[in-house]
Amino acid sequence: MTPDSHSFARPQEVRSTHLDLALRLDFEQHVARGYVEHRLERRDPAAPFVVDTDGIQVHAVADQDGRALAFELAERDDRWLGQALTVQLEPDTDRVRIHYATSPDAEAMQWLSPEQTDGEEHPFLFTQGQAILTRSWIPLQDTPGVRVTWTARVEAPQPLRTVMSADRRVVRGDVTRFAMTRPVPSYLIALACGDLRARPISGRCAVWAEPGVVDAATAELDDLERMVLACEELFGPYRWGRYDVLFLPPSFPFGGMENPCMTFATPTILAGDKSLVALIAHELAHSWSGNLVTNATWRDFWLNEGFTVYLEQRIMEHVYGRDRAAMEIALGMQGLQQELTELPEPDQVLHIDLTGRNPDDGMTAVAYDKGAAFLRRLEEVFGRARMDEFLRAWFDEHSFQSVSTATFLAFLEQRLLSTAPDRAAQVDVAQWVQAAGLPTDASVPESARFAAVDAAAESFAGGAAPTALDTGGWVTQQWLRFLGALEAPTPEQLRALDDAFGLTRSGNSEVLCAWLVLATRCGYRAVDARAELFLLTVGRRKFLVPLYEAVLASPGDGGSERARSIYQRARPRYHAVSQRTLDALLDWRDGDDSDA
Ligand code: BES
Ligand code: ZN
Repeated sequence: MTPDSHSFARPQEVRSTHLDLALRLDFEQHVARGYVEHRLERRDPAAPFVVDTDGIQVHAVADQDGRALAFELAERDDRWLGQALTVQLEPDTDRVRIHYATSPDAEAMQWLSPEQTDGEEHPFLFTQGQAILTRSWIPLQDTPGVRVTWTARVEAPQPLRTVMSADRRVVRGDVTRFAMTRPVPSYLIALACGDLRARPISGRCAVWAEPGVVDAATAELDDLERMVLACEELFGPYRWGRYDVLFLPPSFPFGGMENPCMTFATPTILAGDKSLVALIAHELAHSWSGNLVTNATWRDFWLNEGFTVYLEQRIMEHVYGRDRAAMEIALGMQGLQQELTELPEPDQVLHIDLTGRNPDDGMTAVAYDKGAAFLRRLEEVFGRARMDEFLRAWFDEHSFQSVSTATFLAFLEQRLLSTAPDRAAQVDVAQWVQAAGLPTDASVPESARFAAVDAAAESFAGGAAPTALDTGGWVTQQWLRFLGALEAPTPEQLRALDDAFGLTRSGNSEVLCAWLVLATRCGYRAVDARAELFLLTVGRRKFLVPLYEAVLASPGDGGSERARSIYQRARPRYHAVSQRTLDALLDWRDGDDSDA
């Protein structure tokens, strides 16, 4: 198996195959206490059992009969890997139970106060494991190369309800029991607990959210079952039983997280018109690319995300038509081109080298959109029928496995390239996978609707009044294209746009964020209050980064002070993932908020 530089575990010696988790959630102290018991497969009888931990307090370690086992917690890695926990095994040890408590600042966990929820009455907790944060709430072999089945027993005070990324759930009083009977990598173990309600969409799909959000959320995901059916038609059976979506409070640092059986999602996609549901198509697609067939290490991340973006685009085309899919692909490619101008060359490579770095550094448009463009290029050359057959075989033959880029390339050669050498000659696979930049054979689909937008943007830039533009019937993607096409509008032009289209009042988070970024960058100060409110209420990193950057760089003096003053107030409400990124962006140090 491929070594994983982001884990201390040594699964080739002793491997965990199943874990039983028992935790009590303490919403007062922001701590989870209990144990995890691992079932072991011992390949090297002399080797100890090594797991990853981060900030975990280990109380005791015992074997299957309750006999204490010697253990040692190593020094903390000075960056992000946490601490190795090494347990000495006896000849007959086949289970190891670790009694522990999490730290109140466990990076995977966000404990929300009632004010940070929609209902403002009950606290809320959710976990975010990817990439290497699960070790901060469960001591385990935290590498995607190891898959485990698991059970959990979670105690939380009523009326809170607990959900997990599991295929079985049984509630009795304060205790909820879960089981995941299909083997999953550690980053896909997730939990949420709060004042939650569920509404069915179909026999196997439901939407979960706080009571005040659940109806709007259910309406927005009206097409959920249709999406799952589209996926099954394209890529083979859905193998996880249920497919539910949980909407979290707005501090969730990502758009979505593909936790098995239950995608976790940001409420910022609830636009009221289904215009942002591609994100759900994306997380659903991970049920094939990522959850069924998983990147073996974080340098193979593009196998998860590039495939998923490609699948997402196919689902969108299937359910909403070519036009919508074409616009979304074009927007993605625009974002990629932009990012490529800023990323150092080694980071422009699909098979990126992340040794010694945070795996988060690989979370760029390269893995996502360049990865998808590679698959679209293969489709273009080999035809859709061959491509679909190939993808289905890839998923079927690697299901519930963790795969490396080398495994994929060998499979590609054998099952696609070598079957039609004349076609294979039209794709430079090595260049796509190993080189920086975007190969010249990458294509972007034509979109008549975008052509119309580009014409409007040009005439606006040339001085036309907003009311003279033909914007009737524009959809979200067209507004995003329009805002992206305006290079340096004057504050007066921005005011005219705002007067005509009410952009500062937009209820669509993507349009609003793009608008706030553009307006802030170009000195239209009438958006300041809205931008500040947005930063104080939304924790989604993808929105925070460009908006803080715009505030920092806003014309005139004081951008930096303003950004830091907003951050000082907003920071306690952000998840550790967003804090880490923004601390670096804003040059924030511990203690900077001591006089807050
Ligand atoms: N699996 C990712 C989220 C992720 C990646 C979390 C790496 C931590 C480390 C998820 O599927 C994802 O890609 N989410 C995107 C949305 C998507 C539509 C591109 C996001 O959150 O922005
Ligand atoms: Zn993804």
